[in-house]
Amino acid sequence: MRRVITYGTYDLLHWGHIRLLKRARALGDYLIVALSTDEINEFKGKKAYHSYQERKLMLESIRYVDLVIPESDWEQKRSDITKYEVDIFAIGDDWKGKFDYLNELCEVVYLPRTEGVSTTKIKRDLEKSAIRKKKD
Ligand code: CTP
Repeated sequence: MRRVITYGTYDLLHWGHIRLLKRARALGDYLIVALSTDEINEFKGKKAYHSYQERKLMLESIRYVDLVIPESDWEQKRSDITKYEVDIFAIGDDWKGKFDYLNELCEVVYLPRTEGVSTTKIKRDLEKSAIRKKKD
């Protein structure tokens, strides 16, 4: 059993997220998603539209995801890898190089990001179309 772990916020779930999860799961047999809590997002200066519980519910409904755990501390990655006996740490290549230090504990894989979609872009596009509607 090869276990894979990935981290993220997964707000306003989109096809870039699904493609990332599909490829991460395909690296092994069991995929754990460490989902950032509302508290850690606040600490990072981010605010998700959907709450932690709502984002967790959606992720748990995806066939590629076997387990969702909270990411409540930026420093928990080492202990998660040991605790869940993780073989592969996978994440989008927008993080390329940032987690190389985990190589001493497991394999680190950066997966190419899907072009043309992100939570930020969705928010921006919806905002723009709301502004356009107001003007009409
Ligand atoms: N991801 C991806 N392709 C995208 C968007 C995200 O592969 N187009 C990956 C990220 O690299 C990360 C995971 O999905 O491994 C979760 O990313 P997250 O930051 O939650 O999503 P984003 O859409 O990037 O959100 P934001 O715009 O707020 O940064």
